[in-house]
Amino acid sequence: MGKIIITGGSPLRGRVKISGAKNASLALLCATILASNEVVLENVPDISDVRVMLQIIKSLGAQITWESLETLRIVPPGKINTGAPFHLVKKLRASNLLLGPMLARFGQAKVALPGGCNIGIRPMDLHFKGLTGLGAELSLEHGCVCGSVTERLKGARVYLDFPSVGATENIMMAACLAKGQTLIENAAKEPEIVDLANFLNTMGAKVRGAGTDVIKVEGVASLKGGVRYPVIPDRIEAGTFMVAAAATGGDVTLDNIIPAHVQPLSAKLREANVDVIEGEDSLRVSAGRPLRPIDIKTMPYPGFPTDMQSQLAAMLAVVPGTSVLVENIFENRFMVADELKRMGARIKVEGRIAVIEGVTCLEGAQVKATDLRAGAALIVAGLIATGETEICNATFIDRGYHNLEEKLRNLGASIRRH
Ligand code: UD1
Repeated sequence: MGKIIITGGSPLRGRVKISGAKNASLALLCATILASNEVVLENVPDISDVRVMLQIIKSLGAQITWESLETLRIVPPGKINTGAPFHLVKKLRASNLLLGPMLARFGQAKVALPGGCNIGIRPMDLHFKGLTGLGAELSLEHGCVCGSVTERLKGARVYLDFPSVGATENIMMAACLAKGQTLIENAAKEPEIVDLANFLNTMGAKVRGAGTDVIKVEGVASLKGGVRYPVIPDRIEAGTFMVAAAATGGDVTLDNIIPAHVQPLSAKLREANVDVIEGEDSLRVSAGRPLRPIDIKTMPYPGFPTDMQSQLAAMLAVVPGTSVLVENIFENRFMVADELKRMGARIKVEGRIAVIEGVTCLEGAQVKATDLRAGAALIVAGLIATGETEICNATFIDRGYHNLEEKLRNLGASIRRH
């Protein structure tokens, strides 16, 4: 089912429940490998990236059952079977997060160099720097990262040249079972890092400072498991609905959301003349007044998230005036511009900068999702365009959004799968 067809023009109205966070779920699933017994994760989204990660963990020897729609019961392996299979790992960049837990718990790891969305070079040097700093020996053999640990990982002081989300997570997980103290300096501060630290601590780890730029981990001998833990809501899914509501001139209330996590986007939408009203665990986005152009620079959290940049570009395509987007995280994140241009957008891309001149309207067209968030952006574009928009490669969108079409239909959108 690779195509999504949208007839644009209806403002989104109503309430939508946000699912659990993709990126937090992927990290937490890798962290279950560290536990010595069963773990239950709640609020896990049933999306294809999660399904692939479950297959990978299963292939390592874990037993997994869906206890209910969003609840997973995981019995971690007592010993690992083999390296993670290449045909699965290549589909999912986040499979690199297995390296730290496997090395920490089993003293060995073999993970094929991971794939994922085609949004830039995405090296792993910071992961390697951290894990070798803790005493792991790593080598690249035939497209795989092979790692081993002589005795036990040893705590160390690791400075990250860039606050990489994945490297922070990998090193934090590995450090939980290392001997002694680890300091991660210039750590990433994303909400998913805090969620992972909370989960690790629930299992008996000693992680302090997650959410600040220095994380301190006191290694323990084992993590006990035997816990139930709910994953945080997905701030990018939430952000996508916020932008879709704003772009269509709609009025949508999001439930199951942590408003502080979407604050960088809320601030920008307010600048664009949209009302964003925060509740305790809900948030209302109401747009009726003419939108204003805005400038965006993507930054590590709490800056504006790179994962929301494409969706916002789709909205800004029809906002009168000039908006400027600067992408500071991934070098290849403007691929959606060409697709939006097919729909009549006026966007000029120069390296890491995109200049958008708002047009009166977008026109429905045949377009192609080039990555997950580009796909989400095309959905936003389709919702505001006149006529019918056909989005190919819709399976990219399934990587990160649970029941997207149904949720949008409930808000009044005309959208279907073909
Ligand atoms: C995670 C998210 C992704 C999000 C990104 C930035 C998951 C599964 N994915 O990806 O959705 O877009 O954070 O918020 O959580 N880098 C290096 N060397 C490294 C690692 C990273 O140079 O060893 C660079 C990358 O090339 C990129 C930047 O650091 O330019 C940010 O990458 P990173 O924060 O690691 O992103 P991911 O963890 O891959």
